[in-house]
Amino acid sequence: MAYRQFLLLLLFIQAAAGEPIKDRAALLAFISQTPHSQRIQWSASESACNWVGVTCDASRTAVIALRLPGAELMGPIQPATLGSLSSLRILSLRSNRLSGAPPQDLLNLTSLRSLYLQNNLFSGAFPPAIPHLSRLTRLDLSGNNFSGEIPFAVNNLTRLTGLFLQQNGFSGSIPSIATPGLTDFNVSYNALNGSIPETLQKFPASSFAGNLNLCGGTLAPCAPFFPSPATAPPSPPTPPESPGEKNSDKLSKKEIIAIAVAAGLALIILLLLLAFCLSKWRKKRRKANEGPKPPPVPPASVGRSGDVGATSSSKEDIGSVIAGQSDRNRLVFVGGKGGYSFDLEDLLRASAEVLGKGSVGTSYKAVLEEGTTVVVKRLKDVAVSKRDFEASIENLGKIEHGNLLAIRAYYYSKDEKLLVFDFLPSGSLSSNIHGSRGSGRTPLDWDSRVRVALAAGRGLAHLHSTARIVHGNIKASNVLLRPDPDAAALSDYGLAPIFGAGGSSSSRAAAGYRAPEVVETRRPTFKSDVYSFGVLLLELLTGKAPNQASIAGEEGIDLPRWVQSVVREEWTAEVFDADLMRYANIEEEMVQLLQIAMACATPAPDARPEMPEVVRMMEDIAGGHGGASESDDRLRASSDDPSKPTSAGRTP
Ligand SMILES: *[C@@H]1O[C@H](CO)[C@@H](O)[C@H](O)[C@H]1NC(C)=O
Ligand SMILES: *[C@@H]1O[C@H](CO)[C@@H](O)[C@H](O)[C@H]1NC(C)=O
Ligand SMILES: *[C@@H]1O[C@H](CO)[C@@H](O)[C@H](O)[C@H]1NC(C)=O
Ligand SMILES: *[C@@H]1O[C@H](CO)[C@@H](O)[C@H](O)[C@H]1NC(C)=O
Ligand SMILES: *[C@@H]1O[C@H](CO)[C@@H](O)[C@H](O)[C@H]1NC(C)=O
Repeated sequence: MAYRQFLLLLLFIQAAAGEPIKDRAALLAFISQTPHSQRIQWSASESACNWVGVTCDASRTAVIALRLPGAELMGPIQPATLGSLSSLRILSLRSNRLSGAPPQDLLNLTSLRSLYLQNNLFSGAFPPAIPHLSRLTRLDLSGNNFSGEIPFAVNNLTRLTGLFLQQNGFSGSIPSIATPGLTDFNVSYNALNGSIPETLQKFPASSFAGNLNLCGGTLAPCAPFFPSPATAPPSPPTPPESPGEKNSDKLSKKEIIAIAVAAGLALIILLLLLAFCLSKWRKKRRKANEGPKPPPVPPASVGRSGDVGATSSSKEDIGSVIAGQSDRNRLVFVGGKGGYSFDLEDLLRASAEVLGKGSVGTSYKAVLEEGTTVVVKRLKDVAVSKRDFEASIENLGKIEHGNLLAIRAYYYSKDEKLLVFDFLPSGSLSSNIHGSRGSGRTPLDWDSRVRVALAAGRGLAHLHSTARIVHGNIKASNVLLRPDPDAAALSDYGLAPIFGAGGSSSSRAAAGYRAPEVVETRRPTFKSDVYSFGVLLLELLTGKAPNQASIAGEEGIDLPRWVQSVVREEWTAEVFDADLMRYANIEEEMVQLLQIAMACATPAPDARPEMPEVVRMMEDIAGGHGGASESDDRLRASSDDPSKPTSAGRTP
């Protein structure tokens, strides 16, 4: 297994003690001739293998990877520097201010597998050295100022799986690139023209958008007389709409879209009006017969109006949600440490705001009249009797742990099953990692991520070893952040039994987090929790959501498999979240956490570690951390932040 191999590799690196003398000289030549950020302090008294960004082979006699992303490198790369690192397999210099043409002696890097030069100021023709790097699998030159034609010699790179040339000034037509393994291809936002070669027509329109005049493939069909380098036949005339399109039926298509958009807007406005009127009407009704019994609005209709709003703006009171409940059913408090003193009546009068619709039901934030705020979960598809329900919840209510969100109360009637929890205002890990990027919110920093991982791990370990309860639904939206040193709390644990043993319970575990064996057995176990926890760690590290289409365009990626594949090919920093790349000296910790994550998310249940063991391993990482706040605010504020999606370089 690839994971074992690089564990071994790392062990070797730490055990042996050679020194790559020749490569060391080349690195020093490079860094002395290239202005760079202060954080690259390559100390002469240390082995080059320990320098920031440098990775050596097992015997420590050669440098196999150099990664200096966002290191404020400036100016041209001089010859006889990096070109002499003859064993180099990975070179990542992305997001710097390197300029000029990459030196011709790069063709000496015959072992190079991955070359990442994106988001720099390189210019000139497509570097003629590159087609000689015959083992290259990933080539990213995007976001530079390269110009001229894309050479046909790219076909020399027969192992290429990813070619990224977007956002440059390449012109002319696209050569017919027939590399069999090519899975990622992007030439958008250049000045290309002509028809898209047949070999590249499988790629989506966004791979070709923003060029001068491209046609064919997923774009508009070429005019029949169009000169075409690949003699590609005009494709059938039903292409999807695309930005680069210049065609005679363009106007009518635009019109159609405009009409559709207008109609859609009108419909949305109408629905909003309707929802507004409905809520007004409801409030009036409630005022009219103010009293213990709220108006008997059937829950189903309310659920639907919640769908229309579907956001935090859809305010209504809980009473209208769970109206018409008989007095024989009371709100039952469990555990006893909640310190709450409200009853069902209070809860029914609370104002409620939809927090989200999860797999177990809809969650509301309920603000009681005396000011207390709680979360009310309205469970759907509960499949057990009242007695079993009560027994399960009473049992869960006994659990008290700082990293587990306590159940405070429940309510059970024929039509409604509610759970009441503490409200944590900081939101979930999911919204903090994926939510509103670029809207001014700073992405979760490394220190916080480690603390959250540890907190969630401790919560889960307590659940497993002390309470002997399977969580069954670990995912980023069930990890709630806390402002206090406890950092985070897991929610929604141990609920699988109340949804019935077999059938529906397994479908509660979110896709992407579900262990492979659970897909068949449909029963979550301690071991499947560990798997889900591993996926959660991978999500923290990569910034990719395991169960939804990510920004990169992959749909519903299987995170463990994706990480495995990247790591198997090249042990590369490219798996990590770009938002993390700006913190100095964390690569080792990230690698360690990645190893733990991969051990947890291994397909064979028996090979996965137990949660207490996982926590111990994570504590070893966090130990060196000491909770010290990152000293890298200056990097965080750095203007060439590579992760800012709003940077000007996006458009041609
Ligand atoms: C390229 O490699 C050859 C053979 O390994 C070596 O003789 C030559 O000096 C290298 N060129 C540079 C610029 O390092
Ligand atoms: C293609 O690669 C071979 C080595 O594999 C090299 O000899 C040849 O010069 C390359 N062709 C171009 C056009 O770079
Ligand atoms: C990009 O290259 C062109 C010439 O190819 C040059 O005129 C232009 O100034 C360059 N732009 C930048 C930002 O370097
Ligand atoms: C594409 O652009 C080049 C100039 O960059 C021009 O010489 C050529 O005729 C154009 N080809 C087509 C098919 O428009
Ligand atoms: C290609 O790159 C552009 C610009 O970065 C991006 O918007 C688009 O989604 C990419 N397309 C694919 C298929 O990766």
